[in-house]
Amino acid sequence: MANNLLKGKRGIIFGALDENSIAWKTALKVKEEGGSFTLTNAPIAMRLGTINQLAAACGAEVIPADATSEADLNNLFSKSMEVLGGKLDFVLHSIGMSPNIRKGKEYGDMNYDWYLKTIDISALSFHKVLQTSEKLDAMNEWGSVVALSYIAAQRAYPDYTDMAQAKAMLESIARSYGQRYGSMKKVRVNTISQSPTKTTAGTGISGFDVFFDFAQMMSPLGNATAEDCASYCVAMFSDYTRMVTMQNLMHDGGFSASGITKELVERLSK
Ligand SMILES: NC(=O)c1ccc[n+]([C@@H]2O[C@H](COP(=O)([O-])OP(=O)(O)OC[C@H]3O[C@@H](n4cnc5c(N)ncnc54)[C@H](O)[C@@H]3O)[C@@H](O)[C@H]2O)c1
Repeated sequence: MANNLLKGKRGIIFGALDENSIAWKTALKVKEEGGSFTLTNAPIAMRLGTINQLAAACGAEVIPADATSEADLNNLFSKSMEVLGGKLDFVLHSIGMSPNIRKGKEYGDMNYDWYLKTIDISALSFHKVLQTSEKLDAMNEWGSVVALSYIAAQRAYPDYTDMAQAKAMLESIARSYGQRYGSMKKVRVNTISQSPTKTTAGTGISGFDVFFDFAQMMSPLGNATAEDCASYCVAMFSDYTRMVTMQNLMHDGGFSASGITKELVERLSK
């Protein structure tokens, strides 16, 4: 059901690791809607993942960048404008990583070097992306920048540990930078708070299957899939959402507004 919603628009898509990645599905959908873009990921992820297959399918160039490195981001934005032939209209920040979660650390036993790394990769990198883009004057007016968040920014989840703080900061950066970039250049900045999704980052969290099933039962529409999220990103990059900025947009099938659902009541009263 492609509608050429992004015809003539250029952008950068961060975070496609493999075909399960939300960024991977978004790249395919953006392509389908007529947008052109460069793809990027951390050099190590490019070796572990399959981004080159996606690049071939989309006719996109891959420009490696560690999103915590200002030098890499500078190179990425400059090269992307060169390759795509002009300033950008959209950016997807689809990046998250916690060494503490990877190593199975409890919230009462955090390694603080890793904690800082979690914040740097999963939140501060968003500020670096925005600041690099502003300094290079890389975005066109009415451009749209989106980062992906999770409801653990607002509610406590035992195994999400330091990523909860990273997501809270990510959403805060969207508000602060959205205010600045909007008044300066009419660039929009938002976060999309996505349902639990079966990807490398998602399933790396212990207990993932349980909170995936719980969210499924607590959401009148069910969990939003990675494809659904890709469609929402396209909508956010399109001109149909021009006045939406500085928001954390819940994309969760109704989970965040549900107290309890009939399905859960029936299940628990058995
Ligand atoms: N999967 C879920 O349940 C879920 C739910 C809500 C939000 N999200 C968010 O969606 C985003 C995408 O995650 P995903 O679920 O598609 O998983 P994913 O593992 O496919 O994507 C995470 C990406 O982050 C990249 N990354 C890690 N360190 C990086 C660095 N230093 N520089 C550049 N890139 C780096 C990884 O290489 C990977 O491509 C993340 O922000 C994640 O927190 C995921």
